[in-house]
Amino acid sequence: MINRQTIDRIFEAARIEEVIGEFLTLKKAGSNFKALSPFTNEKTPSFFVSPTKNIFKDFSSGKGGNVVTFLMEHEQMSYPEALRYLAKKYNIEIEEEEETDEEKKESTHRESLYLINKWAESFYTDTLFNDEEGKSIGLEYFRERGFTQQTIEAFGLGYSPDKGNRLLLKATEEGRKRELLEELGLIKERNGNYYDGFRGRVIFPVHNLSGRPVAFGGRILRNDIKAPKYLNSPESAIYEKHKVLYGLYQAKSEIIRNDLCYLVEGYTDVLMMHQAGIQNVVSSSGTALSTDQVRLISRFSKNITIIFDADPAGIKASFRGIDMFLEQGLNVRTVALPEGEDPDSFARKHDTDYLSTYLKDESLDFILFKTNILSSEASSDPIKRTEMIRDVVSSIALIPDAIARTVYVKECAEITDISEKVLISELNKIRVAKFRKVNRAEEEDIQPADLHATDEPEIIKLDTSYQERDILRLMINYGTREMELEAEEEPVKLADFVASEILEDELTFENELYHKVFNQYLDLLSENESRDPVAEMVLSADQDVQNAVVSLLSSPYDLHKWESKSIHVQTEEMRLFRSIREAIYAFKVRKIEQMVTEMRKELEELQTAGEDFILKLKEIDELEKVKRKFLAAQGITILR
Ligand code: GTP
Ligand code: MN
Repeated sequence: MINRQTIDRIFEAARIEEVIGEFLTLKKAGSNFKALSPFTNEKTPSFFVSPTKNIFKDFSSGKGGNVVTFLMEHEQMSYPEALRYLAKKYNIEIEEEEETDEEKKESTHRESLYLINKWAESFYTDTLFNDEEGKSIGLEYFRERGFTQQTIEAFGLGYSPDKGNRLLLKATEEGRKRELLEELGLIKERNGNYYDGFRGRVIFPVHNLSGRPVAFGGRILRNDIKAPKYLNSPESAIYEKHKVLYGLYQAKSEIIRNDLCYLVEGYTDVLMMHQAGIQNVVSSSGTALSTDQVRLISRFSKNITIIFDADPAGIKASFRGIDMFLEQGLNVRTVALPEGEDPDSFARKHDTDYLSTYLKDESLDFILFKTNILSSEASSDPIKRTEMIRDVVSSIALIPDAIARTVYVKECAEITDISEKVLISELNKIRVAKFRKVNRAEEEDIQPADLHATDEPEIIKLDTSYQERDILRLMINYGTREMELEAEEEPVKLADFVASEILEDELTFENELYHKVFNQYLDLLSENESRDPVAEMVLSADQDVQNAVVSLLSSPYDLHKWESKSIHVQTEEMRLFRSIREAIYAFKVRKIEQMVTEMRKELEELQTAGEDFILKLKEIDELEKVKRKFLAAQGITILR
């Protein structure tokens, strides 16, 4: 383990612009540098490096961080690998931490397991290519299924001989520890006798992100014995099933390049798709996906397309699992294959062009796909329809982005012929139920300290920071977008629209941090109309502002891509306009509620003092009217 002092020295020595400059062409931009984003195919540079802050920020992909983060993201290095790379570059001697005996034992143990698995992988491939049985049975099987030599090698496929214990014999010969083999499931014990765990199977090694085999899948070839078709390694100190995806090691660079990940069910699906030229494919190996696996994918891309066999029951069964992707803020699409095909058989029949066109043209946004299926099933049965609404809306409710939710509600209203209002009210019910929890978590990652400075329940209830955050999020993400508020009129920037709406009513943000971010944004915008203030704010010397902006940027919904999701409800400007107007109204309504509460208190005081309170009553009435107008204009129930 690299010790703390060494890490500090590396960070001190490393100059971020020098390191990144080795991979990208940096151009000076004020005190910063910029470049074309290496993570997307952009034409104008939006990748920034700040030498003073020692950070980079890529506005087109949302990635950002320090010099080590860059190496990890761009070069797919692990944390220690990145540190070693930098140490070498800056001639820093690495001092390893003395590990405790316990840690030493643990890491040597893990290291031994890795070595054994690596050894076993070679044993299986060697058997496949050089052993008589391996060639005639294993290799023949792969060839028959259409796998090329190149594919077999790229995925390290192998063969485990049918005869009882060849792997064990070889291991014993070489003096390898039986316990380790057993822990990895490579050998098994029955009645005191040991035999090879994967005997008589073709082998699919499962690699971790650095390409080391952590587990194996073995497919049976004989059909005369009763045994599971696929056998997988047990979990071990180096293999946690729910944290690994089959094929990710081979797919990761293509996932990044395409900013898209295809998800299929089986080993052979991954292999054949890869061979057919679609290489951004991973598989969950037949099991339900875990949150960890979803997070793993989202490190490489926020866009995932799930490929289904055309079996409706299977598709419906997977709906629940897919909700997990939505919750993580991923954009999920689905493709169904023609009747009777799985990705393996389908990919074998077609060339790359046909496949990629098919996958693009036939893919459907998941929520719309789900709505279509459920809606056609529910037909006119009212109970079923109620269930269907709840089901669809519960998926929409999981999406973190408010704009995306709004669009989905509109689309689903159209598909199901149910009014938007009904869907929104159902959506609000679900969100209210979840609200407290989600809201707290969301706000914690930004600035817990100034949010609720007081414990007084009434004030907390009427706090506007949630609404302020919503407005800011839209501003930070889309502030420079122009919207045509009314036909024939000059378009205005979203940020200017917000500013005039808020300032017109002489309102201010209560949350100090949000107030500061809001003002800084407007200041920067007025200094230079043609530049996005966010680029500067994210490098702001004020750490609080920087954190807030980065956090608000971190889950932007990509408006650009809506066209490709075949969402054509309204123009993009209209959607954006609706969302921001809704956010502003929610803020104003909350402000009115505050005033009303204040006035009711005064009213009570007047009453107890026996003074004339009619005027006060009128004022309150007026305010309530304004509030109702706002609410009616939105046609929604405002939360909280
Ligand atoms: P082939 O039959 O060789 O074409 O494999 P396949 O990948 O098409 O398998 P299938 O569609 O039957 O199953 C999909 C995935 O589920 C497989 O790749 C395996 O990961 C997993 N799977 C299938 N059968 C079994 C089994 O018997 N045991 C276990 N543990 N996993 C299985
Ligand atoms: Mn198959």
